[in-house]
This record gives sequence, structure tokens and C-alpha cells, in this order.
Amino acid sequence: MTEKRKSIHGSWSGRLAFILAATGSAVGLGNIWKFPYIAGENGGGAFVLVYLLCIAVIGIPIMMAEVLLGRRGRQSPINTMRTLAQEAGANPLWRWLGGAGVLAGFLILSYYSVIAGWALAYVYRSAAGTFTGATAEGIASIFRQLTGDPERLLAWHTLFMVMTMIVVARGVRSGIEKAVRFLVPALFVLLIMLDGYALAGGAFDQGLRFLFTPDFSKITANGVLIAMGHAFFTLSLGMGAIMVYGSYLPERTSIAKTSIIISLLDTLVAMLAGMAIFPIVFVNGLEPGAGPGLIFQTLPIAFGHMPGGVLFGTLFFVLLVFAAWTSAISLIEPAVAWLVENRRVSRVYAAVYAGVATWGFGLLTILSFNIWAEFKPLSFISIFKDYTVFDLLDYLTANIMLPLGGLLIAVFSVWIMKRDDSLQELDMGDGPGYRLWYALVRYVTPVAVLIVFLNVTGLLDFVGLFGLAEE
Ligand code: TRP
Repeated sequence: MTEKRKSIHGSWSGRLAFILAATGSAVGLGNIWKFPYIAGENGGGAFVLVYLLCIAVIGIPIMMAEVLLGRRGRQSPINTMRTLAQEAGANPLWRWLGGAGVLAGFLILSYYSVIAGWALAYVYRSAAGTFTGATAEGIASIFRQLTGDPERLLAWHTLFMVMTMIVVARGVRSGIEKAVRFLVPALFVLLIMLDGYALAGGAFDQGLRFLFTPDFSKITANGVLIAMGHAFFTLSLGMGAIMVYGSYLPERTSIAKTSIIISLLDTLVAMLAGMAIFPIVFVNGLEPGAGPGLIFQTLPIAFGHMPGGVLFGTLFFVLLVFAAWTSAISLIEPAVAWLVENRRVSRVYAAVYAGVATWGFGLLTILSFNIWAEFKPLSFISIFKDYTVFDLLDYLTANIMLPLGGLLIAVFSVWIMKRDDSLQELDMGDGPGYRLWYALVRYVTPVAVLIVFLNVTGLLDFVGLFGLAEE
């Protein structure tokens, strides 16, 4: 048995803290903002089913793999991968898997923060009573005014990045852990209240039907890739965020149990969000495929008409900001941990360096909604013909970088790492649970990710297999 390593960054106070932090990372804009709009754009039920399937057979096993690698390496993803590759006698190039993760986190946070800025702007608008009595058209125009104004977007994006840097600078226990203890439970309570509103408002069953009745004629190969990419995105997998959180996990905590709990909570939030939003969409005759503005153009209608709407609306957007905040922290933590380890700088400096770079890159997203709104860089490729720079960034990271990162994490943990090592780290005995995990990560995950990729690129179609690729 190898001697246990220790993290220089400290550790969680216990199992609950890890669950809250990882749930805080998983639950974010992905669940409340992104899931409803991509489900809406991709036809609803069939998309949701594919997504749920991906969570179960790909997401949970990969989450376990990430936590196990992190806890064994006890460092930032780059150094963890370097150490574990050394231990397994594998190629040192594996550290680049950690490097790619840091890059993916940087790219994701650059746009994530801009959207979180919208939520901040909406806190202010709800509290000021701007939505009270407003029509769907009025609210759509409030949204257009916000996204059409690059300076306002920049101001909110700046505020959000500063908030993120502050928590990360404070460190694992007094920053991240303190923040999530309160924020995560509060979000659940508020979402359930919103569902109550949707339930009472009519069209609840239409919303449910949209979400849960699969119609496979509505989904394309690209839709399947988006569903799979979202499974990675929503569980924060494939770039080392969960790995770095795993590196702060105390020994003896069950990795399997905690991963399942985190994944279930995350899925629950997405479902609660979908069930709150689609009834409001249908009751107001709105378009489920409205795109990234969906929740910002639907939920305020509900808040504008319900009793106590100013209070609930403000609270809701506050919590959305919190959900985004606890996720943003995990997107930047791998980079910060790495800077501290390799550049010997303090956490404060590391947080500022990484944060300022991310902030600057966020300009690309800000401009995508106004000055560059008609700029479609890859319009010559049919699936990207309507994609702005922001859409492309999102597609590249969520649908390509994260599944590829996840694929390599899977390959490393069962093909490269010694079986005895994963067995020891998962600590669940060599029974059916471990074997199921091993088989899923060894065969199912890599094959599934590859099939979906090849389908979208049309390669399988070319070979005449799986005639799914449509465009
Ligand atoms: N999971 C978060 C959400 O759904 C976003 C997120 C946080 C993330 N950390 C990540 C996505 C790491 C991918 C990788 O909003």
C-alpha cells in the first residue's frame, strides 16, 4: 500500500461538506438556465430521456472516477494526473489531461459569468418592481435591452467575477464550504415553491407532457450529443472540478454513495426547474425553443402576476446567483490550486490572476449578444450556421471538451491505473457494485462517447452504420 498523500490546500470538514460543495458545483445555471432551454430547443421528452440515461450510465460512473483520482492524487488536476501517471508507470503526457481541464474551466467560466451577470441584473430589476404587471412582450423587451447593451453586461459580469475571486481567495474551508452550507438548501426550498406556483397556474400537465413524453422523431444525432454533453456539464464532469474537490475529501468517505447522492440532487433540481418553467411557457403562449433567454423571459411573467411576486422573484434570482456562484468557484479552483502548487503564489494572487484572465475572455460572450449578434463564424458548417461566438464556445466546451475529458478520465482510471488501486480507493469491496462500475467505465462510457461523436461528425453514417446523423 502506498503512503497516503495530503493536500496542501486543506480539506473539507467532512462528508456533508463535500456533498454540499460538489452539489453546489453541480447545481448551477446548467440546471436552471441551460437545461430548460436546450430541452426546449431539442424537442423535449426524447431529449430528456437521453439526458437521464447519460446521467445514469456515464455521469455517475465518471463522477466516481474523478473523485477517486482526485482523492488519490491530492493535488490540482494537472499535478494529480502527473503523480498518478508516474505511479502507474504511464506516459507523463497524461498531465495534459489536467491541463485541458484547466483550459475548459477557463473557457466555460468566461461565458458562465456573463450569464450569471444577467441573473444579478434581474435581482435588481425584480426588487425594483420592474416586472410587476408586465406583459410577455414587455418582459422580452426588458431582456433585449439588457443583452443589447455591452456596457451593462460588462458591469454585471465584472461584479460576478469579483464575487467569485473573493470566495476562491479565501480558501477551501472558510470560503467555499461556508458559502455552500447555506446556499444549497435555500435553493431547493425556493424551487419547490415555484413549482407550486406552476402547478396552480394551469398547463402543468402540458409542461409535464412536453418534458416527459418522448417523441424520437424530434431528436437528431446532434441533439443526442447535446444531451450527453449536458450530462457532463450539469454534473461538472470532464474538466477536473470534481477531481479537485475530491482531492479535499477526507479518507474513508464512500465515493460511490456520495457520487450517487450528488447526481440525484442535481437531476432533481433540473427536473424541478423544468416543471416550473414549461407550464409558464405554455400558459403564456411562449416558444419553448426560445434559446438562452428562456428563463429570463418566462419566469418574470409569473413573478409579475403572483401575489408577493416582488419578494419571490427577487429571492429566486438571488438564489440563481448563488447557484451560479458555487459553480463558478469550482470552475476556477483547478487553475487556482495549480498556480498555488507550481508558481508558489498565495491563493489570493492565484485567484486574481486566474480571475482577471477569465474576465477578459468574457468579452467575447458579451459581444455575441449585441455587436456581434449577426457574426456567425462557422456558418459554412450546417449545424453551426446560426451559432454566435458564445454558442460556439458553449458547444466546444460542453459538447466536445467535457465528453473527451471524461472519456480520457475513464480510460485512465480503468485501463491505466492498477485495478488494485481503484479498488482500494473506492473502498467498497470487490463485489457487484465495484464490478459494475468497472465495466461501465471500462467499456460502456468510452464506447458511448465515441459512438455519439462519430455520429455527429457523420463518420458512422458514411460507413453505413447507425443512420442517425441527419445534417
Ligand atoms: N455544473 C454547473 C452547472 O450546471 C457548471 C459547472 C461547474 C461545470 N463546474 C463545472 C461544468 C465543471 C463543467 C465542468 O451550472
